[in-house]
Amino acid sequence: MVQQTNNFHIREATVDDLKYTDDIVRVVNEAYQTGDGWTSPKHIVSEPRTNATEIKDLIERNGTTHVLYLALDGDEIVGTIMYEQPNDKGEAYCTLLAVAPTYQSRGAGGQLFRYMLEQMKNKGIPTATLTTFASRSDVISWYKKLGFVEESERVDFSFHYKDAKVKPTGDSDLVIMKRPLV
Ligand SMILES: CC(C)(COP(=O)(O)OP(=O)(O)OC[C@H]1O[C@@H](n2cnc3c(N)ncnc32)[C@H](O)[C@@H]1OP(=O)(O)O)[C@@H](O)C(=O)NCCC(=O)NCCS
Repeated sequence: MVQQTNNFHIREATVDDLKYTDDIVRVVNEAYQTGDGWTSPKHIVSEPRTNATEIKDLIERNGTTHVLYLALDGDEIVGTIMYEQPNDKGEAYCTLLAVAPTYQSRGAGGQLFRYMLEQMKNKGIPTATLTTFASRSDVISWYKKLGFVEESERVDFSFHYKDAKVKPTGDSDLVIMKRPLV
C-alpha cells in the first residue's frame, strides 16, 4: 500500500517509524508555526502543534483509534496526515495535515490527502470531515479542490478545544467541512 508519485512515498505509519519521531515532530511544527510555507496557521497557533510524546503514542497505537499516514522523499519525512475512526454518524475526522515548508507546493499535501481518502473509502467509511479556522481562505479553497464542502454551521475553537493553545485573537471560528466517500 505505497503510492509513489513525484518521488513521494505515502504509506501508513508502522512501529518502525518510531525512529522518525523527532523528524515528524519537526515537520509538523515547522508547517504549523514557521510561516515559511504558502499556508500556515502561525498567526493563530501560539504553541507547538505536537511533541514527541504525542507522535510516539500515535505511531504505537496506529490503526486503533486513528490511522496515521506519512509522506517520504527517500528516507526523509516530508508530510503527515491522519484520520480518527468514524463517529456514530459515520464521519471520520481528518487532522494532523502537514507538509514541511521546503516541500510545499510540490503536490505532497494533495497526494497525502487523496491517498488517505481512497483508503478511507476502501474501508467503507461514509464521510470525511475536518475543521479549519474560518479566516484561512487559502486552505479552505484547497480543501474544496479535494472535494470538501463547507457546512453552514460553525463552531468556536476555544469552546470545543479547551486544552488547545491558541492566541486569544478572538478569531476562533472554525469552519466544518465534509466530503462524502460513497
Ligand atoms: C496545507 C498543506 C498541507 C498543503 O500542502 P502542499 O504540499 O503545499 O499542497 P500541494 O502542493 O499538494 O497543493 C497544490 C495546490 O495548492 C495550491 N498552491 C500551492 N502553492 C500555492 C501558493 N503559493 N499560493 C496559492 N495556492 C497554492 C495550488 O493551487 C495547487 O493546486 P493545484 O493542485 O490545483 O495546482 C501545507 O501548506 C501545510 O502543511 N500547511 C501548514 C499546516 C496546515 O495548515 N495544515 C492544515 C490545518 S487545517
